[in-house]
Amino acid sequence: MKRRIAVLGVTGSIGRQALEVIAANPDLELVAATSGSTPIDGVAPVTQVGGDATAVLERTQPDVVLNAIVGFAGIHATLWSLERGVTLALANKESLVAAGELARDAWARGRGLLLPVDSEHSAAFQLLGNMPPGQVRGLVLTASGGPFRGRSRDELEDVTPADALAHPTWQMGPKITIDSATLANKGLELIEAHFLFDLPYDAIEVAVHPTSVVHAIVRLRDGASVAHLGYPDMRVPISFALTHPSREPTPLEQLDFAGGLTLEFHEPDLEAFPLLALAREAGERGGTFPCAFNAANEAAVQAFLEGRIRFLDIDGAVSDVLARVDGAPARDVAELVEADRSARNLVPVA
Ligand SMILES: NC(=O)c1ccc[n+]([C@@H]2O[C@H](COP(=O)([O-])OP(=O)(O)OC[C@H]3O[C@@H](n4cnc5c(N)ncnc54)[C@H](OP(=O)(O)O)[C@@H]3O)[C@@H](O)[C@H]2O)c1
Repeated sequence: MKRRIAVLGVTGSIGRQALEVIAANPDLELVAATSGSTPIDGVAPVTQVGGDATAVLERTQPDVVLNAIVGFAGIHATLWSLERGVTLALANKESLVAAGELARDAWARGRGLLLPVDSEHSAAFQLLGNMPPGQVRGLVLTASGGPFRGRSRDELEDVTPADALAHPTWQMGPKITIDSATLANKGLELIEAHFLFDLPYDAIEVAVHPTSVVHAIVRLRDGASVAHLGYPDMRVPISFALTHPSREPTPLEQLDFAGGLTLEFHEPDLEAFPLLALAREAGERGGTFPCAFNAANEAAVQAFLEGRIRFLDIDGAVSDVLARVDGAPARDVAELVEADRSARNLVPVA
């Protein structure tokens, strides 16, 4: 039997690569696809442009939902899949960050598989899956450092959207590319890792690793660390999530150890890139603080991309919003949607 896949956000960077992975594997069948506003007639037997993607999921009842929508808009599809125990291949980290405990509760009720597509979390999932409980001391998420690695805050004054969109190691959609330049992406990933792997925040570190070859490292209690390596290419974690527990071939190059792999690591510069520390703080405070962090960041990134604010205003906007919201936990999706909306509205440029 073929595995029936729905790809949400099919026109995006992850969505397009997922189509490649599905086309190359006769055991996978694309049954549904969605986009936000780009026409997608004929891409899949059932398609939908805009609106709530769960309508398509209800209609097609896929075996696997690949949620590759960008931003909070992916929330309903994430919760729909988790609640029903339908395997969720999750690229849309924003939904897990924003929904937090609500998503975890839905996952516990549905008892399905949640397979991260973020390369770091896919790596961590693979590493942690082999560890006996109680042996793990912590997780290290790697960050490329983005296009502005090594710059001071003063040197970031005049950077433009075009500068920020020039990522050194990954080809991605515009929102996550800006998030990589500010390190907000790694902040979202820190919160994502907390909810995916049930690790306390003080057990999750971030290390800057410019070549993006090591995706995650797990520290064990005996002092050993195990790492997951591969060239940066999202087709690997996408393929892993869509074919799990099997591992199918991809057209990727094998690592060339003779060709001089550079594996250097540094501490992130939290002064130049304060969004990573703000995300950690929001995560530790819990409730809807992570939702507010995400909402404010989405609104500020949009404003930066449209030339309405400067690069360094992004973290200022997020910090202001976090100081103004009460962060009270959301009891249901309606309260979560309201927390997202009110945080966005606090961004002066939104
Ligand atoms: N790209 C990567 O390498 C990468 C790596 C790790 C994680 N991720 C995560 O994967 C997700 C997608 O990233 P991406 O880089 O693929 O983004 P992207 O290239 O910007 O694509 C986003 C997709 O979401 C759709 N979309 C946008 N707004 C929507 C809405 N309101 N409702 C429904 N669909 C909407 C877009 O449709 P339209 O074409 O109609 O706008 C597009 O199909 C993000 O959460 C990102 O953080 C991406």
